[in-house]
Amino acid sequence: MQPLPRLIIATRNSHKSAEIRAMIGDRFEVVDATAFPDFPEIEETGTTFLENARLKAEGISSRVAGWVLSDDSGLEVDALGGAPGVWSSSFGGEEGNHAKNNARLLAEMAGKADRGARFRCTMVLARDGAEVANFSGAVEGRLVEALHGAGGFGYDPLFIPEGFDRTFAELGDDIKNSLSHRSRALQQVVVFLNAQEIK
Ligand code: IMP
Repeated sequence: MQPLPRLIIATRNSHKSAEIRAMIGDRFEVVDATAFPDFPEIEETGTTFLENARLKAEGISSRVAGWVLSDDSGLEVDALGGAPGVWSSSFGGEEGNHAKNNARLLAEMAGKADRGARFRCTMVLARDGAEVANFSGAVEGRLVEALHGAGGFGYDPLFIPEGFDRTFAELGDDIKNSLSHRSRALQQVVVFLNAQEIK
């Protein structure tokens, strides 16, 4: 039997690679950047999700053979002109501190009538150091005025997706994963890969 082609996920976040493995693991041997501990951390210096996703995919792909998939995601808030956007993970002043990020978001949104927001995710597929294709998924919704729910991560306790009346943190992983920005981008990646002659 032929070995499966390898798909390297340009992240050290095992939650992301597990989610991706669950969707496309039967056609690829899915590994993430933890398999390459010597690789330098790639700085996300872009000003758009696409630029950052490209930096990660092309950076890893220039060092290793096979398909590389990266993603970059965040929350865009209408009343804040699209912020925090690419700066979602450090909005509260400390990289990856979700409690501080949510506290700042609540403060900035206090008294604002326009609660519209969306999560967006952009993914880049690369090979031999260059982008092959990119994909974007979004989920529209609105922000609530206090934290609700204990599931998910990040801004999930403040975000109600369109068509629901509970936050992502209350809805749980199954519902979230069925409509999330990441799964919507990933569905397009799967369609693209299924149409390729993968070796
Ligand atoms: P990254 O794509 O892992 O760099 O995500 C950047 C930041 O966007 C995270 O640290 C979160 O603050 C936010 N974010 C991205 N996706 C989600 C999500 O599904 N739920 C809540 N917050 C998210």
